[in-house]
Amino acid sequence: MTGSDRSQTALEQFKSRCWADVSGHMAECEQRLTEATQAPGGTLGEACTMTLAAGGKRLRPILVFLTTKKNYGIDVTQIAAGVAVEMVHMATLVHDDVLDDAKLRRGHPTLVAGYGPSVSMAAGDYLFSRAFAVLAETGSELAVSLLTGVSLDLSLGELVQMEQAHDIDLSRDAYEKRCRLKTSGLFSAACQLGTVLSECSGATVKAMERFGHCIGLSFQISDDILDFAGEESETGKRIGTDLRDGTVTLPLIMALELDPSLAVMFDGNLSEERITEIVMKVRESGGLEKARDKACDYVEEAAAVLETVTDELDIEPLRLIAEMTVQRRV
Ligand code: IPE
Ligand code: IPE
Ligand code: MG
Ligand code: MG
Repeated sequence: MTGSDRSQTALEQFKSRCWADVSGHMAECEQRLTEATQAPGGTLGEACTMTLAAGGKRLRPILVFLTTKKNYGIDVTQIAAGVAVEMVHMATLVHDDVLDDAKLRRGHPTLVAGYGPSVSMAAGDYLFSRAFAVLAETGSELAVSLLTGVSLDLSLGELVQMEQAHDIDLSRDAYEKRCRLKTSGLFSAACQLGTVLSECSGATVKAMERFGHCIGLSFQISDDILDFAGEESETGKRIGTDLRDGTVTLPLIMALELDPSLAVMFDGNLSEERITEIVMKVRESGGLEKARDKACDYVEEAAAVLETVTDELDIEPLRLIAEMTVQRRV
């Protein structure tokens, strides 16, 4: 690693060294996503297209491409898998914003804010179903069953989150289990799809299942930190959304451990003034730094997993993606 590499963020390094190899595939993927979201026409087509056009990092399809075996080549099969994982992701966000009563996503009003819950639920259902229609084109039963399993986990994760709402005694373990269901499962599925569809060995598939969970957990912890410390102009989401809907996350759990006096602020009066006060206290508690340490542990574990798959995969871009999850501001 050179001196200039060290001063660059993982995202900058990825853009300069790896983006050229995936940009063509991502453009194809984007084209297919545009067609799929426009397909229903009418209000539903308009709503789905609006969500897609609002942006997003497209991390999950990128993972499908990066976990494809070296020199295997990327064709319609991998593109279909990339489109499918991104559509499942979009569906979960559309439904999630209804459940979280979120007003802003990707810097734009959420579908629920613009169209109301009925259109949003229908749009989410459409995106989910369409994802499987696209994935079935691969002809791989294994691919379809992988994404089915993870979609079931995603719904379960959202239900668990509702059941856990406002429980400030939530354990770190219970938090991690929820994140595995609602977030890291899809990262893991994207990584497995890349390997399975390019005929990697069973050992590599297994390793990438674990890698996906590690970076997904780190990604969600970082997202939860951004809910306290992010810049709305960068994240495109409103600070304090988790607090407003009672979602207890790792930075808050850590903050409560470090400063138990915080607990009295959760007395049922969650006014905007109180939210601001809690955000400030959590920032001062050291909870954000402790949560970040945990996210970094997962990134280290992910990097160690990568060392076991060097025969079949080009690990450098994957290592950068793993690092990006803890450096994210968006
Ligand atoms: C947001 O995911 C949902 C979480 C898992 C925290 P992303 O941050 O990948 O969403 P977009 O697609 O880039 O907007
Ligand atoms: C992730 O959790 C949501 C899904 C996996 C669907 P969040 O509720 O934290 O995601 P954001 O912050 O709304 O993007
Ligand atoms: Mg949310
Ligand atoms: Mg969030």
